[in-house]
Amino acid sequence: MLVLSGPNLDRLGRREPEIYGTLTLSEIHARLERVARERSCAVDCRQTNHEGALIDWIGSAADQGFSGILINPGALTHTSYAIYDALRGARLPAVEVHLSNPDAREIFRRRSRVAPACVGRVAGFGANSYLLALDGLLGHIEQK
Ligand code: DQA
Repeated sequence: MLVLSGPNLDRLGRREPEIYGTLTLSEIHARLERVARERSCAVDCRQTNHEGALIDWIGSAADQGFSGILINPGALTHTSYAIYDALRGARLPAVEVHLSNPDAREIFRRRSRVAPACVGRVAGFGANSYLLALDGLLGHIEQK
């Protein structure tokens, strides 16, 4: 499973902890790796502040043998048709993940450009959103 986090998520732990919690992204990745091992699946967790890098990773995911994508695109969620296109083109099931609940925040966060390219969305559960999203994605893949 390819796990992608976008802009500013490298700052987790120090970035607005009242909204995003105090765990760092490395700690979240370690939790994901532990849970993935228990489920006999592998996760490759990556973060970048650059939209193009996310697009490159999404585009090559199937060729690299990944069977699904978890993605927290950060603020690119609300703006990026290019990530939407990349996810559609990847032909892999993808789940949109957010630590916070964007629908309960500023109005601009209520629109997700990537949601129509995803099989589902998990938001609002802090670091657990990533773990719940992994469970959802594995369940979705097992059903197929
Ligand atoms: C976020 C929500 C986005 O609106 C915001 O821009 C982020 C983080 C989240 O995980 O809650 O950077 O994706």
